[in-house]
Amino acid sequence: MRIAIIGGTGDLGKGLALRWAKNHEIILGSRSAEKGAAVAQEYTQIAKQTFGNQFSGSIAGTENSQAAGRGELVVLAVPFESAMENARPLKNVLNQEQIVLSTMVPMKRIDKVFEYSPFIDIDPSGSKASILSAAEMLAKELPPASRIVSGLHTMSAKRLSDLGKPVDCDIVLCGDDSEKVNRISRLVEEIPGVKTYYAGPLRTSSLLESVTPFIINIASHSKKKEPLIKIV
Ligand SMILES: NC(=O)c1ccc[n+]([C@@H]2O[C@H](COP(=O)([O-])OP(=O)(O)OC[C@H]3O[C@@H](n4cnc5c(N)ncnc54)[C@H](OP(=O)(O)O)[C@@H]3O)[C@@H](O)[C@H]2O)c1
Repeated sequence: MRIAIIGGTGDLGKGLALRWAKNHEIILGSRSAEKGAAVAQEYTQIAKQTFGNQFSGSIAGTENSQAAGRGELVVLAVPFESAMENARPLKNVLNQEQIVLSTMVPMKRIDKVFEYSPFIDIDPSGSKASILSAAEMLAKELPPASRIVSGLHTMSAKRLSDLGKPVDCDIVLCGDDSEKVNRISRLVEEIPGVKTYYAGPLRTSSLLESVTPFIINIASHSKKKEPLIKIV
């Protein structure tokens, strides 16, 4: 699969790029084409050293919109605060066949407690406000909503980037188009030690996204440094 990762130079992007590059064509997106290309070179070296002759994919890097135009899958892996500013320009380059994966968790730390902080969407007349998850907000910016799959919110970038070990966690996905969700599910399950579950349509994304601050708060009161989830 050709996978564009918007914000691919960041922590989550690095882990996903390195894991998936073993078998897939990765295009890292960055606000700077030069940065994207330089980081892609660095990750290519790591992938070659780690996978040796089992490395059958590739990693390239460019500016975000260029990357998005080339991906069969476009992963949004930018901080939620800048999510829509990074997503908006992609509208003009995406076609109907492309899948968009939202990994974003809108959360804030208030008085040492992490809180889920969804988007407040005000309609153009200014008379109506709705509370939307990051994935639903993305669906508004990059319609149709059926192209959006939401998941990976509870993944650990650190564990993903540690290529010597399986990640050992479950990942819950949601989305309106079952064929698109199934494609993402198969891709995510290529990461050693990861199993996926389906939670329902895109409107369940707020439930998925809010699990991240929930488990981070638990971690801050326990000895778990990198909390992950498993459905048992
Ligand atoms: N880190 C995790 O373990 C993890 C796990 C699950 C989900 N997530 C979600 O994944 C998303 C990315 O997380 P991350 O930890 O990978 O983020 P990050 O490392 O802080 O940033 C990712 C990339 O976003 C780009 N970016 C675009 N606009 C930006 C801005 N205004 N300020 C800073 N960077 C900007 C940067 O790339 P350029 O400078 O190259 O443009 C940066 O390298 C978040 O929405 C997060 O909720 C993260």
